[in-house]
This record gives sequence, structure tokens and C-alpha cells, in this order.
Amino acid sequence: QKKMILDLDTGIDDAMAIAYAVANPEVDLIGIIGSYGNVYVEDGVINSLKILELLGATDVPVYTGLQHSSESDHFDRMPISAEIHGENGIGQVELPMPARKPETGDAIDFLIDSVKQYGKDLILVPTGPLTNLSAAIEKAPEITTEIGNVTIMGGALTVPGNVTQVTEANINQDASAANNVFTSPLHLTMVGLDVTLRTLLTRKETQQWRDLGTASGKAFADIVDYYIKAYEVTSPDLHGCALHDPFAVGVAIDPSFVTTLDLNMYVTTDKEYYGRTVGDPARLDEPETNVKVAVNADVDAYLATFMKLLTTLFEE
Ligand code: BDR
Ligand code: CA
Repeated sequence: QKKMILDLDTGIDDAMAIAYAVANPEVDLIGIIGSYGNVYVEDGVINSLKILELLGATDVPVYTGLQHSSESDHFDRMPISAEIHGENGIGQVELPMPARKPETGDAIDFLIDSVKQYGKDLILVPTGPLTNLSAAIEKAPEITTEIGNVTIMGGALTVPGNVTQVTEANINQDASAANNVFTSPLHLTMVGLDVTLRTLLTRKETQQWRDLGTASGKAFADIVDYYIKAYEVTSPDLHGCALHDPFAVGVAIDPSFVTTLDLNMYVTTDKEYYGRTVGDPARLDEPETNVKVAVNADVDAYLATFMKLLTTLFEE
């Protein structure tokens, strides 16, 4: 069993990412780091604790990560976030206040210490901004070659962004941090909009969860229906909601869900093209590459696994 840490801005698809990790017997979820983005960091942390409690995973520690971009001294939540994820981040569904509190220890130190402890057996999946990972690399640069697998949800290589024409939401929160991560020696897999916008869930699947008649099945059906409804308004052509974050967790555990392109990349931070994830012209002809960009996906295989794992989890 590999060890896994999730770094997320819990949000609805982040909540599904937690469920996927908890449900998967191949990984041991050793901790969650909270980030800002879909919600303020404190709210994301509470959402993570609520979701873990709903799923009976009350032994997973939750740390409070950095609360704003490395380029700024505060974070302003975008109004669109409340439209897509609900004011509370989890589709306006009221889950009981968690009995547990977040950990008091430092989130960046938790990440660094975990790399020291588990090394190549550690999988890190950031599904929010890359601010925490960038800070960890700055503090302990050696972790870039010590850590096992880093799979991020973020970026867009071949398709328009979802915030501007060039930028995807997670990268857009902190392009400088993303650039630090992409241009570090770290080997990472980028699960971006290129593949996540093809990995869709519909009301048919959420109804299957509701029909289980369990608290978790009903809550997740209600939470995800909010997200599907938002997609029906903002992206009616998709006919479903994108499984951005749980797809990244799936790929981190089983890379065969995607085909990848090997590339050296950077992230542009100038105003006009802020947050664009592109090939780095200065390193294009280097024989060694450090990013695997997911460019194609076995959507049917992934969805089958996703439904099997989450349905089994919600049955309990
Ligand atoms: C990403 O942005 C967030 O809103 C989602 O949770 C996902 O991680 C998609 O661009
Ligand atoms: Ca997210």
C-alpha cells in the first residue's frame, strides 16, 4: 500500500477526490493539507473534516495550509466559485460540524516530514493551487528527488483555460508557485483540462448513490447534483460535470487511465498570459523531461472504477 497526501481546496470535486482516496484499497491516505481556491482555507479544512467524518475516515489528519497566493498577502474568493461549488463549497448541503479539529502542526512541515519518512512510497496529489508544494520545495529543495509520485490536477496544454482563454483555475490562483513546481527537478504528472473535461459524471450516477439509502450516498448525491446543475448553466454542451480532482487521484494510483506526453514546461506569469502551462522553449530539446502531460484518457475504464469504488464506500 502506497501512502497518499491530498492537498486540496475542498470544493465539490475535491470532496469526490477524498472519497476516491478513502475508497481505494491500494492507498493509505495519511493526511490532507487544506488550500484556498474554491473556498477560503478555513472553510476547505472544515469541509475536508466533514467529508472524512461522513465517510467514517476519522483517523486522517487534516492540516491547514497556506491561505493565499505567494504573489499576494490575501485571498479573494471569486464569485464563480460559489456558483459552481456553493457558498459553503459543498453544494449548500449541511453536514454536521465535525467532532475533530484540524491539526495544529505546520502543513508544510507535515509534507516535508512525510517525504523524509516515506520517500518513494509517498504519492502527493495537489488538486488546488500549488502554493503549499512550492513552499515545501523552497524550504527543503531535496524533497523534489526524494518523493515518489506527484500528480497534479491543473493546467491546460491543448484546450482553452476555464478562467481565461489561457489559464486553468488552480494554476491561475498562483502562477508563480506553479512555475516553481514545474521548473523544479520534481517529476510530475499533469492531469489538466485536456483530459478532465472529458471525464464526466451525470445525474444517472448520482441517483444510483441516492438509491443506496445511506447517509453518505444521499449527501454525495445532493452535493454533486449542485455541481452538475452549475455545469448545466455554465457548460451546457458537456452534459455532465467534470471529475477534475478525483481523476487526478485515479491517475496517481493507476497511470494507465491516461496516455501522456513527456515535456519540459513552465508557467507564464506575465499579465497578458498569466497562468499558461506551456512547453519551456529554453528546455525543449533537453533529453531529460520532468513533466508527463495527460493528453488522452480511457474514460470508460476510469468511470467504471470510480463508480465501483464510491458506490461500495457509500454502501457501508
Ligand atoms: C479545478 O479548479 C477547482 O475549481 C476544481 O476543484 C478543480 O480542482 C478545475 O479547474
Ligand atoms: Ca480543487
